[in-house]
Amino acid sequence: MHCNFIASLAIMLICTLAAAGESPEEIRLRVGAGDLVAGKEKSAKCQACHGEDGNSRTDNYPKLAGQYAAYIRQQIHDFKSGARVDPVMSAMAASVESEQDLLDIAAYFASQKPMKGESSVDNKVGKARYLGFVTGCRSCHVPAGEEPAKFNPEIPVIAGQHKEYLIKQLKDYKRGTRRNESNGAMSLMTRYMTDRNIEDVASYVSGL
Ligand code: HEC
Ligand code: HEC
Repeated sequence: MHCNFIASLAIMLICTLAAAGESPEEIRLRVGAGDLVAGKEKSAKCQACHGEDGNSRTDNYPKLAGQYAAYIRQQIHDFKSGARVDPVMSAMAASVESEQDLLDIAAYFASQKPMKGESSVDNKVGKARYLGFVTGCRSCHVPAGEEPAKFNPEIPVIAGQHKEYLIKQLKDYKRGTRRNESNGAMSLMTRYMTDRNIEDVASYVSGL
């Protein structure tokens, strides 16, 4: 039937777009329940900034390729409600009319091959912060396909994200201008980070 055809097409697409080592369970969790084929069309205006395949070309527009659908949806809800504020995105989020559209758009970006940095960055201080014991970034932000899989779609993908975007978000958490998170993890993480620490870690993480 028609629906079965769409469903299997979606699964085929997802299979080719998975990160190496990612299990089917992880992929399902990443993409959520939306229809990614419909989402491709519905996200045309989003692609203008975030890139056709979710890899934006502009440093302060975040990449969405392989980002968790549940995280994308939460951010759009928060831009809509005013819990997270950005002059451009607040207006764009308001233009997403229905929950179904949001599910589909999120599924489309989430199903894309996970974002990757353009080149690895040899920043020893940033690397140590990223890999650090317990409070290291990687203890929560485990990249897709790597062990131990986190299975928590509320923790966004950061590996390979644009450096300028990462720096802005970390400073926003630190200053309290971004405070839509549910558990305060990032405001705590950034409280004692200096601008230099932020620069170092963003530099390393963006190269992954
Ligand atoms: C004119 C450019 C532009 C367009 C069009 C646009 N965005 Fe954005 N988007 C941005 C910018 C800039 C940010 C970063 C805001 C900030 O600094 O907090 C962003 C952030 C986001 C985020 C948060 C990402 C994260 O990692 O937290 C999501 C999700 C998002 N956009 C989805 C969308 C969707 C869905 C659409 C289409 C309905 C869309 N965007 C259209 C520029 C754009
Ligand atoms: C205890 C778990 C935890 C640790 C450790 C952690 N994070 Fe996060 N991080 C989160 C969660 C949860 C969110 C989502 C918060 C939200 O909804 O705003 C997040 C969000 C982010 C974002 C926003 C991503 C985006 O797309 O907008 C960035 C950037 C980030 N973290 C960077 C880091 C860095 C760098 C470190 C290490 C210095 C770190 N995190 C350590 C849990 C963690």
